[in-house]
Amino acid sequence: MIIRKRLHRAAALAAVVAVSVGLAACGGDDDDATSDSASAPAATEPAGSDSTAAGAASDAPADGEPISVGFVAVGPEGAWRAANEANMQETFSAENGFDLKYAPATNLDQKSQIDAFTSFVDEGVDVILLSATEGAGWEDPLTRAQEAEIPVILIDRGIEPDDPSLYVTRIAPDNVEVSKGVADWAVTALPDGGNYYVLEGPAGVGVVNERNNGWDSVMDSQPQFVKAGAQTANWSAEEGKSVTETVLKANDNDIQLIFAQNDEMGLGAALAVEEAGLVPGEDVLIATIDGTKGAMEALAAGQLSFVAEYNPLFGDTAVDVVRKTLAGESVESYIIVPSGTFDSPEAAQEALPTRQY
Ligand code: AHR
Repeated sequence: MIIRKRLHRAAALAAVVAVSVGLAACGGDDDDATSDSASAPAATEPAGSDSTAAGAASDAPADGEPISVGFVAVGPEGAWRAANEANMQETFSAENGFDLKYAPATNLDQKSQIDAFTSFVDEGVDVILLSATEGAGWEDPLTRAQEAEIPVILIDRGIEPDDPSLYVTRIAPDNVEVSKGVADWAVTALPDGGNYYVLEGPAGVGVVNERNNGWDSVMDSQPQFVKAGAQTANWSAEEGKSVTETVLKANDNDIQLIFAQNDEMGLGAALAVEEAGLVPGEDVLIATIDGTKGAMEALAAGQLSFVAEYNPLFGDTAVDVVRKTLAGESVESYIIVPSGTFDSPEAAQEALPTRQY
């Protein structure tokens, strides 16, 4: 039953795409239409354009049934996550032809995610979106989805070991490049180097390793910088503050740079620096990743010194990938979401008025 429904849907979707492309191609002859259907959606409708949204409604499956999407999500975990998962829910809307089943993890617990994933496979949804709270342990669930011919798209988080044959694509900014950019800035901002500390995300999360790899790929060849240590602060401001308090005491406040792998931990560190009688942005430079409003305001106020964006608003790209995948089209195995950087109060002030997260 499931497979027949999916084949019927794929055929229906392909037909719809062919029709819409045919329409888009206006005046191309039928023969072309077929070949066009393979590429044109990519060519004509970049994800994120308004037309995508409009086009989306008309692209709903001809059988009128919404595309059922199981979203194995992370749930509450800070501002970035809230922005990303809200954006997914907004774009995978009924208006756009979707029936999104949102399943946030219970207290970031992987077992609850695997249970939700398994029930989506048993239910026979059309596609699964996965934001893994932990990188390891997904081989079996992904293999089961593959056997059921349910495509899986990774949202933000990768799996470890990374095996692209087990999923359609991963959509996320490039963590290695993003954190390399932070390190490059630090080398420029502190030409004489200094002692630095790293506030990491939770152990076992793929992006944490990727961000360490990017950072270390630069800092390991900068002898003027001395690593005083690294510790997880679990993406949280409270723990970012308490860990930094301990680090400053242990190093007699002789720390010149803090790399916080996300905004919340960096904001906590800034509080600890102030409470230690130091001036964040002068005595201690703090750099973060995410680019949420709170961090941009702290950058505008000079408490943070550098913010690398990790753009969470890629729902339209995910919708585009789902449509292409169900239409039998292939997509890149890693779709990188462009992300900017902010290295001054002025840059933050300029960006804040239109900041969406
Ligand atoms: O996976 C992305 C990370 O998860 C963000 O940088 C962090 O804020 C979030 O919790």
